[in-house]
Amino acid sequence: MQTRSNFSNKLGFVLAAAGSAVGLGNIWRFPYLAAKYGGGSFLLVYLILTVTFGFTLMIAETALGRKTGLSAIGAFQALDRRFGFLGILASIVPVIIFPYYSVIGGWVTKYLFTFLSGEITAAADNNYFPNFIGETGGPIVWFSIFLLATSVIVMLGVEKGIEKVSKVMMPVLIILTLFIAVYSCTIDGAMEGVAYYLKPSLQHFSVKAILAAMGQMFYSMSLAMGIMVTYGSYMKKENHLESAVRQIEIFDTGIAFLAGLMIVPAVFAFSGGDSSALSAGPGLMFITLPKVFNSMPMGQLVGAVFFLLVLLAALTSAISLMETIVSIIMDRFHLNRTASSLIVTAFSFALGIPSSLGFGRLKHISLGGMSILDMMDFISNSILMPIVAILTCLFVGFIIKPKTIVDEVKETDGTFKSEKMFSFMIKWIAPWFLAAIFVSSIASALGIFAL
Ligand code: PHE
Repeated sequence: MQTRSNFSNKLGFVLAAAGSAVGLGNIWRFPYLAAKYGGGSFLLVYLILTVTFGFTLMIAETALGRKTGLSAIGAFQALDRRFGFLGILASIVPVIIFPYYSVIGGWVTKYLFTFLSGEITAAADNNYFPNFIGETGGPIVWFSIFLLATSVIVMLGVEKGIEKVSKVMMPVLIILTLFIAVYSCTIDGAMEGVAYYLKPSLQHFSVKAILAAMGQMFYSMSLAMGIMVTYGSYMKKENHLESAVRQIEIFDTGIAFLAGLMIVPAVFAFSGGDSSALSAGPGLMFITLPKVFNSMPMGQLVGAVFFLLVLLAALTSAISLMETIVSIIMDRFHLNRTASSLIVTAFSFALGIPSSLGFGRLKHISLGGMSILDMMDFISNSILMPIVAILTCLFVGFIIKPKTIVDEVKETDGTFKSEKMFSFMIKWIAPWFLAAIFVSSIASALGIFAL
């Protein structure tokens, strides 16, 4: 039996987990949700949800991993045989997300190269993006490049691959984000955007905003998909879990906040104060922003730096997705890391192809207006993740009991400052609140009612 790999210290764990958490969700999704749902009021609610709900679930998941020393499937099963299915359910999520996330990672890589090669005017054209993703070969090649880069890092292992890469990429990511955020806030007309982003606006705030904040927070913190269980299993007992989780929260929320300062003012200045330009979904990143860069001084440089930072964020998230799957296969079938990584790479390549072709050759396959990629996203994020999150809370709250987790957190030095909040939240607040969100999001997806 091989001994389990470990992160060498708390910083290694925090940066790798933050690498997972900080991703595409922070950079394009968070800013536009905040802008749409009432600026400052949304930010405040998001922050409160992070330090309560997000904290509770992240503690539960990382402690489950560290206690059992196993990835998701094994961890749930080890604590209660009847709950092995929950581990399986959690593990299906990264299997679905990883391939399409890598397809988008491929698009980002392509854009970085486009900006580096100076084709900025071409990229600013409305048809550039739909034409590109509608091709057959191009996007698959970029997808493969992104996938291979991820595989190489995962193959190098926890300490030599994931930890090393995160220790370099995450600080670089912060610096680049700060650079663009400062630049963006100094453009003519940007201050209006800053105000729009930060000023609380109750008229845009509603129950729906809270639900949106909650959904975003789970996705953004990489919860309910076995990732934090796996990363927790690589953490040493002498590192304090609670303070590590607090640091990951600060990282994740901080970058999301800065991403808003980077994007909202620039888009505002560009569109002459028209906030609807922010709500373009994926088009925001791949269509609107290239136009914004094209219109600003030093746009090629800023655009290249922007896509580089998005690429770093996407890569560290993809690494965590792949690692979760690789580690499950290693635990389960007693395979070594290389073999397991090769299997996952081949499998994910095959699974990613339909998502990649879904905007061109397979465009005719769609469900309720969703492309294949959107369907994958919907199944994983809107259906499986909430179910896993709810069941995890019930499992910890009522089956193994919060004390099991509390004891694990206290292993380091006997302290757990937020013990009371954790024990209360996991039983009495989180599962029920999550269930409400789940029902309402399914209902609104089916068009039953709109809040
Ligand atoms: N947390 C990442 C983000 O904010 C997304 C992600 C989801 C990463 C699932 C890994 C797994 O973009």
